[in-house]
Amino acid sequence: MQGFLIRGGRALSGSVRVGGAKNAALPLLAATVLSGGVFRFRRVPDIRDVRVMTGILRSLGGETTYHPAGPGGNSELVVDTRHLEGTEIPEALMREMRSSIVLLGPLLARFGRATASYPGGCVIGPRPIDLHLRGLRALGAEIEESGGYIWARAGRLRGADIHLDVPSVGATEQLMMAATLAEGRTVVRNAAKEPEVVDLQRLLRAMGARVHGAGTDTVVIDGVDRLYPADHEVMPDRIEAGTLLLAGAVTGGEVEVQGVEPDHLAPVLAKLREAGADVQVGPDRVRLRQVVRPVATNVRTQPYPGFPTDLQNPFLALMCTAEGTSVIAETIWGNRFKVAEELRRMGADIQTEDRIAIVRGVAQLTGAEVQATDDLRGGAALVLAGLGARGETRVLGAGCVDRGYERLEERLQGLGADICRF
Ligand code: EPZ
Repeated sequence: MQGFLIRGGRALSGSVRVGGAKNAALPLLAATVLSGGVFRFRRVPDIRDVRVMTGILRSLGGETTYHPAGPGGNSELVVDTRHLEGTEIPEALMREMRSSIVLLGPLLARFGRATASYPGGCVIGPRPIDLHLRGLRALGAEIEESGGYIWARAGRLRGADIHLDVPSVGATEQLMMAATLAEGRTVVRNAAKEPEVVDLQRLLRAMGARVHGAGTDTVVIDGVDRLYPADHEVMPDRIEAGTLLLAGAVTGGEVEVQGVEPDHLAPVLAKLREAGADVQVGPDRVRLRQVVRPVATNVRTQPYPGFPTDLQNPFLALMCTAEGTSVIAETIWGNRFKVAEELRRMGADIQTEDRIAIVRGVAQLTGAEVQATDDLRGGAALVLAGLGARGETRVLGAGCVDRGYERLEERLQGLGADICRF
């Protein structure tokens, strides 16, 4: 098992360029199924989840070629779907990454059929897909769930007026993609407003789709007969950016993240300032200086533009050594405080009760051997805790962090952290 060895207590300083967003790249790659052709994506992060998605596209007959970034340049991923005709998502890859469920809609829209194994449970809580399936049925798909499998069939999908019970990111993306080739108009109400949904709309429009409203709670799609390949630059990863800023805060340092869209980070910057950081914002960069001991700050995760659930665990790590007591409420996922157990091994004083964590700040954490769970954001939180802790921390389970962070240890080394992979 790979891990990270961290010698804590050093204030980070320097600038780092943020990569492309994992949670934009995955639906963008799923959208390539909607049209046969050659797509060029820039700024795709070289992370495990992207490799799973390209693996699925190849298993369906697509071809993918990754050109790593040159110094300071952008990586390029070429996706060729001219011979993509498979419609069955491989079970092993489905199990490895639940969000591949968003492929159902594009496969149905393009080929009229799709098969997937029922995505297994997930460490952050049940990952239901009822809104995905209900939406696809509203578009005219016949979907059977039996024996752990999902069988979907459809003639041409028909536009529908769909109201999501919760603003699900994946369901919004799935239905936007499926509706692009449906007959007539589809309206997705109570849609997720995340920037990654807006990035997907950008690609779909470039492919010839008639979509508008992404970023608001109502997305409207007028179906067309066919779509075309397009080139696209993936938006910057706001969660990676927030994680790196938090690394600066937890070590009492000064960190600048470059190549970001500051607006995407607004809810996070507000909380970092509340926690005592000096935050300066430029057109495509954010600089954080933490010169005082962090101040206890309450957080309630919310759909965008609220505080993102994916930065809840990294923020929890910061609150472990804040002055005072913080209350962290996780409203999106049912079980996203598993990392607390590991933080306690480092001396944190955290009590969790269902979806609430109460953190009493201590002066400093102490390095220990800790285990990253399957929640990659919990793994990142343990790395942050190790950076600020006294002594040596071994974070076991680097593999799960690699699902969503590209060579995190190299980015942190660039900021002066004493961290290496073993
Ligand atoms: C996306 O997951 C992200 N993943 C998650 O990031 C993120 O935590 C989540 O959105 C919320 O922002 C990707 O984009 C690949 P949801 P997704 O559907 O789409 C309920 C990370 O660490 N729900 O918005 O799966 C669900 O139970 C990952 O990068 C239903 O009830 O999340 C949850 O409570 C973790 N029925 C809420 O909606 C459904 O059919 C939000 O889920 C679907 C969802």
